[in-house]
Amino acid sequence: MLTKTLLAVVVALAEMNSALASDGLYQKGSPVLQITNKKQLDKLINTSNHTSIVEFYAPWCGHCKSLKGDYEKAAHSLASMVNVAAINCDETRELCSSMGVKGFPTLKIVRPSKVPGRKPVIEDYQGQRTAGSIVDSLTSQMNNHVVKVTDATLGPFLEANNGPKALLFTEKATTAPITKALATDFLGVLSLGQVRSKEKATVDKYGVAKFPALVLLPGDDKEPVVYDGKMKHKEMLQFLSQAAEPNKPVDINAAAPPKKSKADKEKKTAATTTSSTPTEKQTAPVIIQGAVPIPTVHTLDKLRSSCLGDKSPTCVLAFVGDEANEKQKATQDVLGHLAELAHKNAQAKRAAFPFYAVPASNEASTLLLEALELDAESKDQVHLVAINARRGWWRHYKGGDSPSFATIESWIDAIRMGEGAKEKLPQSLVTKAEVKEAKEEPREEPEKQVKEQSNDEPVDGEEIKHEEL
Ligand SMILES: *[C@@H]1O[C@H](CO)[C@@H](O)[C@H](O)[C@H]1NC(C)=O
Ligand SMILES: *[C@@H]1O[C@H](CO)[C@@H](O)[C@H](O)[C@H]1NC(C)=O
Repeated sequence: MLTKTLLAVVVALAEMNSALASDGLYQKGSPVLQITNKKQLDKLINTSNHTSIVEFYAPWCGHCKSLKGDYEKAAHSLASMVNVAAINCDETRELCSSMGVKGFPTLKIVRPSKVPGRKPVIEDYQGQRTAGSIVDSLTSQMNNHVVKVTDATLGPFLEANNGPKALLFTEKATTAPITKALATDFLGVLSLGQVRSKEKATVDKYGVAKFPALVLLPGDDKEPVVYDGKMKHKEMLQFLSQAAEPNKPVDINAAAPPKKSKADKEKKTAATTTSSTPTEKQTAPVIIQGAVPIPTVHTLDKLRSSCLGDKSPTCVLAFVGDEANEKQKATQDVLGHLAELAHKNAQAKRAAFPFYAVPASNEASTLLLEALELDAESKDQVHLVAINARRGWWRHYKGGDSPSFATIESWIDAIRMGEGAKEKLPQSLVTKAEVKEAKEEPREEPEKQVKEQSNDEPVDGEEIKHEEL
């Protein structure tokens, strides 16, 4: 009897302990790949043909916390080109010290050898810890397997082997990260050449009239196929896949996963978001993009131009409170649900309302909460509000303190269907459209945002761009 009780206490304590220890910085749905053990790290380091960056962190470390936003932004920008991973060293002390980690955060770049089978080069990242610097540094350290093709070398390129090939025509002298990523995706199965627009004979031979252009040479004397889709990695990869199956992205969990605790399962979901789903490998391989965090609106102006203009469409705003409240599990859960929902909508190619997180540091937060008389309610909860400035209404989510994915989804569905009661939006909150603003930021045209609310196009306006094709 006594032993039983004791045992229960011990088990409860152990569970509590592991729950505490596993509270990493990166949430489920983060674009950062989360590594939880040596096997996974080895797998990534030893088998990926893509360059990786790995952050070794401790969840309590202040510099790690302040890096998080930039690191996720970088991960988003580098998605499917560079592996962006993180390891919680509180959980894997030995692994971190075996990697020579002495302080947090430590960022290491893993660059695979261009010669198959050779060891990768692992170096500390010494640059600034900003999204822009990380993206620049990593894109410049991607291996380049793209063959420069000129009028003089087209013949040898075509004759080098009988396999499928592709030519990317561009006006640029440099090779863009997307092109390098594609060449690496198809390493050993399809050779990718880059031709500059000034190579007249080659340009004419394939009838290329505008740049950039992608032409697939399927091999076996089959006719060249000119690509006419978006110049985006995923779409281009799919197009080339008709001639050759790309290498599967490294799945760090593929071999014998460690015993499954609840935390492990969660991490696994997070980790697999950046790798392929095994069941899809029969058809054209598709890289599944995971849910990325919803954009955060940091300024009143930005919120005005996105959601409070007299032409603005419906926006869903999550008022997340101050920094401490934003870190609360309940808040993070809600943000996670919204990210998943945005992801689901994007995958279903469903036009959806844009979702934004609004922190207390944005003066719009107090302004709106007061105007909508929401401040009376408990401060330490997330306020979910749908707002339509054009039609002058707003709605507050009233489903309780800890909304689930399903309840949020049905709340938003109801709004979409125009069901339920709407509150009248104080007219003082609505801004008249300013011509000047629209001219400076054509990207932020509201109607367009509704269509573009998808995870590969954050509407934050702060997206870190890498060099174009
Ligand atoms: C993978 O790399 C680790 C070092 O990171 C090494 O100890 C291990 O033997 C390697 N495994 C294989 C299969 O090459
Ligand atoms: C890496 O490239 C080689 C060709 O050099 C290929 O056989 C292998 O499948 C690739 N591995 C991954 C994980 O993409």
